[in-house]
Amino acid sequence: MKVFSKVKDLQAHLKSLKNQSVGFVPTMGALHDGHISLMKQSIKRNDVTVCSIFVNPTQFNDKKDLKKYPRTLEKDSRLLEKAKVDILFAPGVKDIYPKGTKHSVKVNLKGLDKQMEGAFRPGHFEGVVQVVHRLLDIVKPDELFMGQKDFQQFTIIQQMIRNLKMKVKLVVCPIEREKDGLAMSSRNRRLTKAKRRDAPIIYKTLKAAKRRMKTKTVQEVVEMSMKELGNPRGYNPEYFSIINGNTLKEIKKWSDSNYLVACVAVWAGEIRLIDNLIL
Ligand code: PAF
Repeated sequence: MKVFSKVKDLQAHLKSLKNQSVGFVPTMGALHDGHISLMKQSIKRNDVTVCSIFVNPTQFNDKKDLKKYPRTLEKDSRLLEKAKVDILFAPGVKDIYPKGTKHSVKVNLKGLDKQMEGAFRPGHFEGVVQVVHRLLDIVKPDELFMGQKDFQQFTIIQQMIRNLKMKVKLVVCPIEREKDGLAMSSRNRRLTKAKRRDAPIIYKTLKAAKRRMKTKTVQEVVEMSMKELGNPRGYNPEYFSIINGNTLKEIKKWSDSNYLVACVAVWAGEIRLIDNLIL
């Protein structure tokens, strides 16, 4: 695996790979099997796979969260090598945001960034759009791989690609789960033992919502889910939203959309977890 930290070195190498398709997986490191499944998809579909590891400061609305975000570059690098990723791009903040250059991106997000994560993490998606746009501009891949776990994130990036008429194709990969149902996330390793033990409640509640749609109203399902998610000690749900998967707007009746998704964010002690299920 080739490793680059400088934009111009990466680009020189990519330029030398004539007529090869490039798949790109942007990450913030602390890699787990969920990330590896994205790499595998990219490797399957492309001649060359590039993974970036960059903990993007502009998408953290909480500076403490940025500081605590796990940084495990050596271990990540071994995992990528094992997965047969071709290129690791691990830039520093100055490589991504050089002084004196403008990196804000104007995109019409059609309000997709206003609810759920957007409502609870102000500025988060501006940062995500900014960094993904910058990384795509550097790597210029044919395909971009993102996980379904960050439902709002991939929907917003899809809108950015459409709105800016970018050439890249977004490939969304399914959520990878632990045996007990917890969605894989870099944040899971920060859960205390007790919070980790109780974490399957999140997926259980999502699955219960799917069952309950047959007999309960949307509001009843939301209320029951919020109550259940608050049951384990130290668990504090922020939202449980049933949305139209295209507009990300909350629905009122089951018949409001034929693409329904239940999305959840919950604090497990100090750690904020998100998950979703297409209903
Ligand atoms: O999902 C993530 O890990 C990040 O938001 C991303 C897409 C790598 C941008 O920093």
